[in-house]
Amino acid sequence: MPISVEPLAKSIAAEVSGADLGAALSEGDFNAVHDAFLEHSVLVFRGRSQTPALTPDRHIALTRRFGEAEIHMLDQFHHADHPEILILSNGKDSGGKPLGLEDAGRYWHTDVSYTHRPSMASFLYAHDVPPEGGDTVFASTRAAYDALSADWKARLQGLRAVHGLNRITAPKFTDEQFAALDYVEHPLVRTHPETRRKAIYTGAFALSVAGLPENESRGILEFLADHCAKPEFQYRHAWRAHDLVMWDNRCVVHHATGFDRKHLRHMHRTTVAGGVPV
Ligand code: SIN
Repeated sequence: MPISVEPLAKSIAAEVSGADLGAALSEGDFNAVHDAFLEHSVLVFRGRSQTPALTPDRHIALTRRFGEAEIHMLDQFHHADHPEILILSNGKDSGGKPLGLEDAGRYWHTDVSYTHRPSMASFLYAHDVPPEGGDTVFASTRAAYDALSADWKARLQGLRAVHGLNRITAPKFTDEQFAALDYVEHPLVRTHPETRRKAIYTGAFALSVAGLPENESRGILEFLADHCAKPEFQYRHAWRAHDLVMWDNRCVVHHATGFDRKHLRHMHRTTVAGGVPV
């Protein structure tokens, strides 16, 4: 079956059909998916295209088609046999031990921007989803950049943000994991290395604008956060079991939403290593 790509929102996201993620993608299918990824930034593969469930091996193999599969520093939430998979879950084992990282990313962010080389892409696969809620909302920071006024574009030019974690954004990091991190600087506007399009690069890990007084720095970050979160730049994904969604962290911010904790939300996430943002 040929691959088809249907846009899901005005500025971001498309549904891909006809790709069998349960098997290795042919070169032609990979190229079609890769092109769609660069164009739409978020790709949705609905559950029916990988029934039965996508195995960890296939999930990792798909990830590796796009680059080097990373190993997240939160090793307490790795899949037991596949450290490339970070488990996001509110489930507990029979002894009450968490099965995964609960409450990951409930604020707008781009993955691991608190590191020197943040993840290029993320692949999130749903094993169990609540009947309602637990959606993931994505926003195109490329469309948000394009929509800025010429004055704002000029004002942001050359500015860099300091990214780092704090106890609000990283409640599950151990003291040791926390201590291993430093603050890093990234441009507030980055150029996508493949499309050459510009995108705003902020999110909850961006703590301040380097070299600016606190008031001015806060004003810029708050303006950008509000601007990127405008509905016209968004796609909201309501999960079904066995959906896989991949996104481009170089031009997308995202956040998870709440749900009734009596239901299980159990997800597997992999990421592809990225370069230094420029
Ligand atoms: C993430 O921030 O990577 C996870 C988002 C989600 O669980 O919906």
